[in-house]
Amino acid sequence: MDTHAAKEIVEKWMIPTPAGAYMAGLENRPIMARAEGIEVIDTTGKRYLDFGSGQMAAALGHNHPRFVASVKKSLETISHSTKTFLNVDRLELHKRLGEILTPPLQKSLFLVSGSDAIEAAIDLARKATGGVDVLALDMALHGSTSFVTRSLTFGWGRAKHKLAAQGTSAILTPYTYRSSFGDDPDFVEKCLQTSFQLADANFTAKPAAVIIEPVLSAGGIIVPPPGYMKALRRYAHERGMLLIMDESQTGLGKTGKMWGHLHEDVVPDIMTVSKHFGAGLPIAAVTTSAAIAELAVSNGYFATRSHACDPIACAAGVASIDIIQEEKLVERAAAIGIRMRAALADMAQEIEAIGEIRGRGVLYGVELVEDRASKAPASALCRTVVAQCQQEGLLLQSRGSHGRMNVVRLVPPMVSTDAEIDRGMEILRKVLRAETRRTAEAA
Ligand SMILES: Cc1ncc(COP(=O)(O)O)c(C=O)c1O
Repeated sequence: MDTHAAKEIVEKWMIPTPAGAYMAGLENRPIMARAEGIEVIDTTGKRYLDFGSGQMAAALGHNHPRFVASVKKSLETISHSTKTFLNVDRLELHKRLGEILTPPLQKSLFLVSGSDAIEAAIDLARKATGGVDVLALDMALHGSTSFVTRSLTFGWGRAKHKLAAQGTSAILTPYTYRSSFGDDPDFVEKCLQTSFQLADANFTAKPAAVIIEPVLSAGGIIVPPPGYMKALRRYAHERGMLLIMDESQTGLGKTGKMWGHLHEDVVPDIMTVSKHFGAGLPIAAVTTSAAIAELAVSNGYFATRSHACDPIACAAGVASIDIIQEEKLVERAAAIGIRMRAALADMAQEIEAIGEIRGRGVLYGVELVEDRASKAPASALCRTVVAQCQQEGLLLQSRGSHGRMNVVRLVPPMVSTDAEIDRGMEILRKVLRAETRRTAEAA
């Protein structure tokens, strides 16, 4: 299929979301046809290194043979089943996931998408605490379902939706790079004190939970400073609220530990898992301790979807855990992180537009600025860098929030070799060098 044929289909048959971007940029948008390992290949045969891991869900590489074998087996035996009955793959996945959770997290419930899992986590917290109000960070993304998750997605702006779910409000993101008190040694306490002073005033009922990603990914790869998570949990628990961690993007090894929360040694009360949990198929989980699960269920908690416990998705989940453990991908993600950070730090020596490098494991962000003194966000440069990298065969994304899209996000699959990482880094270096020079000449 060529661009002309694609454009006709898009114009006639697709709802033009997000905001017409498909049509406007179609000439520059490859039409993907297949994938091999960490590469995706478009209809013209052009190959791209996938440093976006698809939509963050191809962290085990595309079409991993073990995943393909599990899915094929399911297709030939039983791919869909009623959730009213148990099935072998579902049971196996509960056990396998439970074994790698951080105690006291133990019990899980399966759903289809990350947004489903967040909805289910919020309801779980409400049923367990008897509270209502939920807090999220002002640069957060927690999903796109039309009420609760997008109401907690403050980073995208809520005003365009006109309505927001009751009992949802924002607290400050611990974004030291751009906070007016980012250098204050007492940053963590000041950030939380201010946040909760406002939160307490905004609560409309008894509060239920605060939700956070261990690393805010879509917000621009914001890594909360040391001590923040522990203090956040204290502030939450003092109010009878539960701490929910959204590990859609940070879970199952991506940060170089099995779970993002292990970096700060703060175990959440509730945790969600999605993205590469299904190694390429959609499946998500909400997890919690036995005590919280029991309490919530005694107050009427349940959550499900027609395809939530399909053997095919559960078998993919088991394959995903097998791949991560057998191929030691948690350790591999940590090693990739060290390699990427060294390469990016080296780039920052020569490229003044690199304001800050943040991340863990395979999840990295490079914040681009007009100059390091003013920190003025270089969103246009970021857009061009991402587009040029694509031309050069490297897929990346620009991320950020509050109108800033000036962070280049890199998420190479955890199965990437050193040579592949180096190849991606060299493309990024070449493009950054050329584009910053061009911007300087044009000024
Ligand atoms: C942190 C986080 N939570 C939740 C979601 C929603 O996941 P899904 O798109 O699978 O519904 C996303 C999606 O990107 C995400 O990044």
